[in-house]
Amino acid sequence: MTYDATFRVWRGDAGGGDLQTFTVAVNEGEVVLDVIHRLQATQVGDLAVRWNCKAGKCGSCSAEVNGRPRLMCMTRMSTFGEDETVTVTPMRTFPVIRDLVTDVSFNYTKAAQIPAFTPRPRDEDGNHRVQQVDVERSQEFRKCIECYLCQDTCHVIRDHEENKAVFAGPRFLIRLAELDMHPLDVRDRRGAAQDEFGLGYCNITKCCTEVCPEGIHLTDNGIIPLKERVVDRRYDPLTWLGSKIGRRPRQ
Ligand code: SF4
Ligand code: SF4
Ligand code: FES
Repeated sequence: MTYDATFRVWRGDAGGGDLQTFTVAVNEGEVVLDVIHRLQATQVGDLAVRWNCKAGKCGSCSAEVNGRPRLMCMTRMSTFGEDETVTVTPMRTFPVIRDLVTDVSFNYTKAAQIPAFTPRPRDEDGNHRVQQVDVERSQEFRKCIECYLCQDTCHVIRDHEENKAVFAGPRFLIRLAELDMHPLDVRDRRGAAQDEFGLGYCNITKCCTEVCPEGIHLTDNGIIPLKERVVDRRYDPLTWLGSKIGRRPRQ
């Protein structure tokens, strides 16, 4: 079953642009990215769109579909009525390069600022021993495909360019949480989470969790536990006493 859909697609570059309207054929079982590709193949050969796997695993095809941050390759056309106009725009939080392609290098900068995994020394027999339950706690965050839809939706940076310098965004707050709860990592990241990566800016709206295509519970399982650990560190009387008598904090 084929029908003609009305698509409004943002076209332009860093200097400006606008929404342009097209009529495009849609086949049964297709996703938004299929239709964008047909548009590119038949009507606008120079339409810029980033994609790679078409299987929801590379994180490249992030955009906003009818205002909601989504992977275009995982958004079925059956989500919309046949007479519904489908509007596709680039992620708003990042600078546009051209059409649907944005410059996401903000995320690479933040990733590079996070101190690397710092394991404790091996046991005397050369092994690392950890409890399976501790391993599993942080595995959820390893599912991240770095689509940056959570970064795109977070209001702290979506409408506030000035916050980008002091706020890492949800994807990197869960990276900090993952490392902080890793059973082998010995670096204390709680101070940096608050002071350098802007944990305090997050007011737990959970919008990042709602748009994550991997179903990662960013707020409940990552950001909130990290906030609790920061509070423990600040108000733990032993930590306070240790700092007063010059005990070396954990690295
Ligand atoms: S929960 Fe925090 S990090 Fe997630 S979107 Fe809301 S403010 Fe941003
Ligand atoms: S946490 Fe989810 S939404 Fe955020 S970058 Fe990773 S996969 Fe994408
Ligand atoms: S093309 Fe890879 S996630 Fe969509």
